Amino acid sequence: MPPVQLLQLTDTHLYSDAAGEAYGVNTARSLDRVLASVFAGPGPRPDAIVVTGDVSDDLSAGSNLRLREALGNRGAPVHCLPGNHDDPRLMAELLGSDGFRYCGSAELAGWGLVTVDTHLHGEVGGWISGAALDRLDRDLATRRDRPVIVAMHHPPAAIGSAWLDRIGLGNAAEFLEVVARHPQVRAVIAGHVHQVFDELRGTVRVMTAPSTCVQFASGTADFAVDPRPPGYRWLTLYEDGAITTEAAWIEGMPAGAGPARSG
Ligand SMILES: [Fe+2]
Repeated sequence: MPPVQLLQLTDTHLYSDAAGEAYGVNTARSLDRVLASVFAGPGPRPDAIVVTGDVSDDLSAGSNLRLREALGNRGAPVHCLPGNHDDPRLMAELLGSDGFRYCGSAELAGWGLVTVDTHLHGEVGGWISGAALDRLDRDLATRRDRPVIVAMHHPPAAIGSAWLDRIGLGNAAEFLEVVARHPQVRAVIAGHVHQVFDELRGTVRVMTAPSTCVQFASGTADFAVDPRPPGYRWLTLYEDGAITTEAAWIEGMPAGAGPARSG
């Protein structure tokens, strides 16, 4: 069986207004340029796209529809989950049909994809409810025969930036306990931190991806923008559970700047 080609996009921070900017970056144009780079190249096309949250920056229907417009005709199913900046009800309504899937789980040609909702209403940090953890445990128990990748917004790991770690996943330890019971889980992919992270936590490899708009500096005590351009992560998932992956940044694109705010 050929490997699964998976494109991770994250933290698009789109606005209803096409001119909307985050940290000085026009987020709609930035996403378009990232997609042009991915789809114009000679490389493989994705079999699936996962958008790991913070689709919207203004909680608007228009921002969610902008993602639909950008990804709806790429020839691959689009799996979405909420970040702290999103309105989960709007996302479920607008990004849950016709080629888009909101939360839940899916089959990816020999692999399982399971998404986890870490959105906590009114908070920047994340939390997985007890019911969601139970659901995850049960879902993974039915998928022992194939490797699984889990997708979520808040990474279940401190990444070494004090300000981001304060607004991370509050019950990461509980999540990792559940995952440890299911060794077929090969990786967790997340967003939120607008930078790349790739380390083992407990039994599982935790990875994050560059934002499609602005990056945050790594290893900082306080908020700081990183001048790297917009990007994405590509994952190739092999039938035997192996993964090769690469984060990419679109050189020549404007980097972010501007006033501090969180996550
Ligand atoms: Fe974000």
